[in-house]
Amino acid sequence: MNEEIIDLVYIVAAVLFIVGLKFLGSPASARKGNIISSVGMAIAVIATLFTKGLNYELIIGGFVIGGVIGAVVARKVEMTSMPEMVALFNGFGGLASLFVGWSALKNEPSPELFFLATVFLSILIGGLTFTGSLLAYGKLSERISGRPFVYMGQRIVNSSILIAVVVCAVLFIQNPADQNWLYLAVGLSLLLGVMFVLPIGGADMPVVMSLLNSFSGIAAAAAGFAIGNILLIVAGSLVGASGIILTNIMCKAMNRSLSNVLFSGFGTVSTSSGPVVEQGEVKPMSADDAYYVLEAASSVVVIPGYGMAVAQAQHVVKELQELLEKNGAEVVYAIHPVAGRMPGHMNVLLAEADVPYDLLLEMDQINPRMENFDVAIIIGANDVVNPAAREVESSPIYGMPVINADQAQTVFVLKRSMASGFAGIDNPLFLKENTRMLFGDAKESISTLVSEFKS
Ligand code: TAP
Repeated sequence: MNEEIIDLVYIVAAVLFIVGLKFLGSPASARKGNIISSVGMAIAVIATLFTKGLNYELIIGGFVIGGVIGAVVARKVEMTSMPEMVALFNGFGGLASLFVGWSALKNEPSPELFFLATVFLSILIGGLTFTGSLLAYGKLSERISGRPFVYMGQRIVNSSILIAVVVCAVLFIQNPADQNWLYLAVGLSLLLGVMFVLPIGGADMPVVMSLLNSFSGIAAAAAGFAIGNILLIVAGSLVGASGIILTNIMCKAMNRSLSNVLFSGFGTVSTSSGPVVEQGEVKPMSADDAYYVLEAASSVVVIPGYGMAVAQAQHVVKELQELLEKNGAEVVYAIHPVAGRMPGHMNVLLAEADVPYDLLLEMDQINPRMENFDVAIIIGANDVVNPAAREVESSPIYGMPVINADQAQTVFVLKRSMASGFAGIDNPLFLKENTRMLFGDAKESISTLVSEFKS
């Protein structure tokens, strides 16, 4: 196939990637989006195989080994371990860009400045994405401690490593024949990835993953420039841009700046308590009491959070939803963008339980309607329903957009204790006049409610 035809196929593939991304924007069309993008990737790979001068033995070997590992891992992985898998994908994507950029040097006898700069960028960003993602994987999977590792002068050390890499880049570009500076830069970029992720707490890893995902895209785009491959440039730019957009969405939803996530050492579950502003008492109730209220309710909003994931309560929640509907109530779900511990965490769990997508409402859709609901059932959510974010200026989460569950007629909070959530602060919602606490594991509490309805 001549090069013009290959480029033409690449453009078709790029269009399919973009259309696929568009479909990924809604859970209902996400599957279709995945298929469209995969078809784009398949035709891009096939077209690339027609490039002149390829070593097919190596390609088939890599394809078989990578394909088998990928298929086995993808079959085995639990939905809730997706962030770890994405971390590994990102990391190896970064490593691939490092190798692609590096190997491009071999085919360029008299390299120009732009070429050398793109090679260097693919090595630097690819390398730090690789080790940063491996460390993020370790923290996410709790194979290593999720505690932020912070020490005096950390930023100075990290900045010095970055400056050293830039110096290596300049020295290498001045004399590309001497590859020692390049080797040193590869080592430093790998070290930088580790140093970059060390100070970030395990619970902030989803934000870091999304940023590293963006880095892996930028590294791929740089590698695309180095080898003159349009499709790698387009695909890398799409990944780079979407990763940055997702990072920004997550930071906004947590009311934190990116620099706060990266440098503050926040992000381990803290036990310290923040200001208690609400005077009132905790009003526990039994599942029996909850049943009588729910039986009379005509509209119910379910607000899931991290505790629903811990309890794996999504299937019984769906069962309760069906029983409430049978009883004549309208049931919807209110989904906060950072409920749980990964983007789309609640959507994934509820999709696993076959909850219809159109029942999932976003925060902006639900808040204006909140006072019309007879009951808000909060299942293992805490920070994302904390009214202190609206009412208490001194609160660490002040300004964070939250679901205004306290404005419903009656609020049921299902959790095991009065413990705080991820942000480590008290929640005045638990003491409000219209709140009742149903203590216990969320799955057990809801199962009891389900049996009450059934009997
Ligand atoms: P959290 O505020 O973390 O609260 C979860 C609550 O679930 C806890 O208070 C806990 O109370 C309860 N819980 C745990 N296990 C339970 C079980 N088996 N049964 C019943 N309840 C259980 O959760 P959230 O409201 O979903 O907020 C998410 C937090 O994570 C936010 O602060 C957000 O900024 C942060 N965060 C999110 C992300 C993403 S991308 N989603 C990324 C990083 C950080 P008990 O121990 O008393 O049961």
